[in-house]
Amino acid sequence: NLPSRVQIIDVGPRDGLQNEKQPVPADVKIELVHRLQDAGLTEIEVTSFVSPKWVPQMADNAEVMHGIRRNPRVTYSVLTPNMKGLEAAVAAPREEWPDEIVVFGAASEAFSQKNINCSIAESIERFAPVVAAAREKGIRVRGAMSCTVGCPYEGDIAPAKVGHLAQLMKGIGVQRVDVADTIGVGTPRKVQAALEATRAHFEVDDISGHFHDTYGQALSNTLAALELGVWNFQSSSAGLGGCPYAKGATGNVATEDVVYMLHGMGIETGIDLDALIDAGVYISQALGREPSSRVSKAIRTK
Ligand code: HMG
Ligand code: MG
Repeated sequence: NLPSRVQIIDVGPRDGLQNEKQPVPADVKIELVHRLQDAGLTEIEVTSFVSPKWVPQMADNAEVMHGIRRNPRVTYSVLTPNMKGLEAAVAAPREEWPDEIVVFGAASEAFSQKNINCSIAESIERFAPVVAAAREKGIRVRGAMSCTVGCPYEGDIAPAKVGHLAQLMKGIGVQRVDVADTIGVGTPRKVQAALEATRAHFEVDDISGHFHDTYGQALSNTLAALELGVWNFQSSSAGLGGCPYAKGATGNVATEDVVYMLHGMGIETGIDLDALIDAGVYISQALGREPSSRVSKAIRTK
């Protein structure tokens, strides 16, 4: 008995675009968010309040948040790795605040150092006041956990390390977590082990799967997560993206492909696949490439 309904967070505007080398105008990012919400997405990860020296593509974070026509049905989230990020995210008028912030840590020490320039323990110390301040303002808090299956620097990651990070996240008041396969090396049983380790600390309703598709395993891993009752997933429109600190890692699984699979299994998403495909074509054309979604390609060439 699989979940009958799945909630998708489209992370394309953030994870999808953060690593893009060519400048992407804020207006294009805003239009992508609009198209995603018009296609029925009710959770969108919009941008990151991180150092513009580290991730130049997200330097227009405030401009993008300002430009979005907010739909009250949609949860808009942003990454905030430290107090500076949170302060920047709430410097705008309240109606432009994110509904949810994301602190992001890693199950691997080496990746934590490369991505956020500190150890896992230090990252938790930095996140704790961010989580407390956000919750005090009524902003929901999600924790992203990178490298829960494999790490580009350390190789295989033991589920116990994932459990340890989940426990630390829970301890500082993070409300829900993403189990991320950052470099897409996971296979179904390994991904299930990472999810099980997380489930020791979070309710299944508060766990989401975040699978990059580097090795073409993301849909299988999504199905494996569904088998455990996980019903929240992150994916990118047109399969955009990759992480700047995970060389060679490709984008998230394409939202179009996930939606096609789910609808084919009779699982509801509330998303209009045709409108979603159009959104993916829009952003891909703006970037001068084809969508990397197989479903998008198949349906458009039918
Ligand atoms: P640091 O250098 O250790 O930080 O970076 P610092 O506090 O020493 O500050 C250094 C400089 O950065 C200072 O500026 C700060 O003001 C500035 P300077 O004095 O040199 O001019 N700074 C900031 N500026 C703007 N916003 C901020 C901010 N913080 C400091 N929030 C830091 C630490 C975390 C900031 C840095 O390492 C960073 O920005 N890293 C970026 C990490 C990132 O965005 N990675 C990609 C997202 S995570 C991901 O993709 C994985 C995920 O998808 C899940 C998965 O797939 O695994 C979520
Ligand atoms: Mg990611």
